[in-house]
Amino acid sequence: MLSRKAPGSGQSGARAVILIGFMGAGKSSVGRALAEQLGWTFQDLDERTELREGRRVPEIFRDSGESGFRQAEHLALRDLLRELRTGAERVVALGGGAFVQKDNAALVGAGGVPTVFLDAGVEELWQRCRRQAEQQRIERPLLGSLERFAELYEARRRHYMKASFRQETSGKTVQEIAAEVIQALGLGPRSRDRSRGGRGEKQ
Ligand code: S3P
Repeated sequence: MLSRKAPGSGQSGARAVILIGFMGAGKSSVGRALAEQLGWTFQDLDERTELREGRRVPEIFRDSGESGFRQAEHLALRDLLRELRTGAERVVALGGGAFVQKDNAALVGAGGVPTVFLDAGVEELWQRCRRQAEQQRIERPLLGSLERFAELYEARRRHYMKASFRQETSGKTVQEIAAEVIQALGLGPRSRDRSRGGRGEKQ
């Protein structure tokens, strides 16, 4: 884990956190667990993009190409970050390519919201994606072959490493990962105080 301190984090700090990382890193599942533990709202950028476009991600790729998808994704991210500026308590999961785009990384950086790079070995990421494709029929237009997947991961990793910190996910449950992120960023004491006695944790 990187020791660099997250912008806006600390015990009195951040009211939002942004999860980044490659396909299969667990951004959505960890994001939901994190939001549940904090009593915050979870937002998935791919879902926001789909809502904005009225089309599913694979359809956008098919009909408008990757560049069309990136444009739509950028606009959805802008909307989402605007909402964070109102002080909304949010856990946000970005799609695997979003933070790699220069404009998006600049927007996220300017917002001062801490970012977490969820990571695992590339073989494990690949296996998770394959499992999700088979069991949950999650379609990922950029999944391709293991070789291509590994190349893309390597090319993107240096961008992901610009996150406030890197969280290892191998061999950990989503609940454990969420708890480690909360501790590392010192997130949400005010939320937890408010919810004391009322709210149960997931599972
Ligand atoms: C993409 C990852 C996907 C989705 C789109 C493009 C990528 O999200 O945004 O298929 O470029 O890696 P997940 O990382 O949630 O699979």
